[in-house]
Amino acid sequence: MPADFDPLSARWRTDPYPAYRELRDTAPVHRAPTSGVYCVSRHADVVQVLSTPEIFSSRAMFTMLMNGGREKGPPLSLELLRFVVRYALHTGMNPFAFPKARNLIAEDPPVHGPLRNAVNRGFTPRRIADWEPRIRELVAEYMARIRTSQRFDLVEELAVPLPVTVIAEMLGVEPERRKDFKRWSDTIIYAISGPGRGTPLLRAFQDVFIEFNTYLKKIIRQRRRDPADDLVSAILAHEPGGTALSDTDVMFFVQLLMIAGNETTTNLLGNAVHMLLDHPDQLERVQADLSRVPDLVEEAVRFDSPIQLVFRLATRDTELAGIQIPQGAIVAPLLGSANRDERRFADADRCDIGRDTRGHVGFGFGNHFCLGASLARLEARVALEALVPELADLERSGDARELVDSFVVRGPTHLELRRAA
Ligand code: HEM
Repeated sequence: MPADFDPLSARWRTDPYPAYRELRDTAPVHRAPTSGVYCVSRHADVVQVLSTPEIFSSRAMFTMLMNGGREKGPPLSLELLRFVVRYALHTGMNPFAFPKARNLIAEDPPVHGPLRNAVNRGFTPRRIADWEPRIRELVAEYMARIRTSQRFDLVEELAVPLPVTVIAEMLGVEPERRKDFKRWSDTIIYAISGPGRGTPLLRAFQDVFIEFNTYLKKIIRQRRRDPADDLVSAILAHEPGGTALSDTDVMFFVQLLMIAGNETTTNLLGNAVHMLLDHPDQLERVQADLSRVPDLVEEAVRFDSPIQLVFRLATRDTELAGIQIPQGAIVAPLLGSANRDERRFADADRCDIGRDTRGHVGFGFGNHFCLGASLARLEARVALEALVPELADLERSGDARELVDSFVVRGPTHLELRRAA
């Protein structure tokens, strides 16, 4: 039994699934010895945690992801003060206001629902379906380049540009700056859930954070003056609970949409293609019948989940699967494990695009269920419908699988393909 399993450590990252299985069988609520995080690995318990926000608060998404594991800011130091001054001068915003800012991913009811309403209407399946022609156009453009290449990196040529361009267009920010958006998102993922974690004053991170927020501040100011038909303007026009959002609230919102809107879908596409190439029988099934692509997408989200875990904060002493969890503990529902739970999915470690994937928690569960699920599904469907027939002539050009260095997101940094001889 992996008594020393810690979801924050890179040690289990390459293939966490055997450890997850052992946890589910022998320690379904396991306190990680190094980080102290309580890992919840069975599907039923994960659903239980995610459906009781009054006991398991999303505040931990702020504490663990945006604040380096602390509830309050980092200890005062000269370096911190320098950063605060630099940040305030460039953005006109006060970083000491961060812990109090409204932040969708970290709010609980009753604040969460009204805040989410700012953008809910932009993400209904019907509104998302309106984006299909544009997504097709973009995929056609990327595929044209791919079809004429003997060798290419699928992540770079398709999995990165598609979601980042779409979310930039939805937000109403300049898609031409997509390389900057991607660089900013990657640096933030690195700083909050990768090796940069715990060093929020890292110079590279500070610079990116200031650059990103200076850009957002300019957009916010411009849209306050001159609203358009885009998500930034919709967020600015919204007054949840009757109070207008501050610039910092809006900045958090837009940053969340931009990061969530691209990192995850990129990883889903990379994971789905690896999954198909690892399981040629499943590739043949979907090649023989492209109407199965939506099933392939769901199975990929279940089988190798792009978001492996989320965090919650225990608001009181409680018990789960017979284990005591003290008030103040950080709890990590392991989505990637719940989706492999044989108590919920028969033969759960087998990849099977024909299985009933309903109930997977790859997009979360409960009030924070992924806002962008319809968009991610649409982008992945259109991309894979175009790519799957091509995979007949393509093979991986190496065995090495470098994963994004993060304990939250899972996916390949590169996926080199070449035309088969
Ligand atoms: C395969 C792709 C995706 C996966 C696997 C995924 C996964 C998730 C998960 C697991 C959560 C729940 C977080 C929690 O419970 O604390 C979530 C929330 C969220 N996702 Fe996604 N996501 C994906 C794509 C997207 C896209 C394309 C967007 C577009 C904007 C997006 C925006 C969001 C937002 C805003 C939230 C927070 C919702 C809230 O707090 O109410 N996601 N996502």
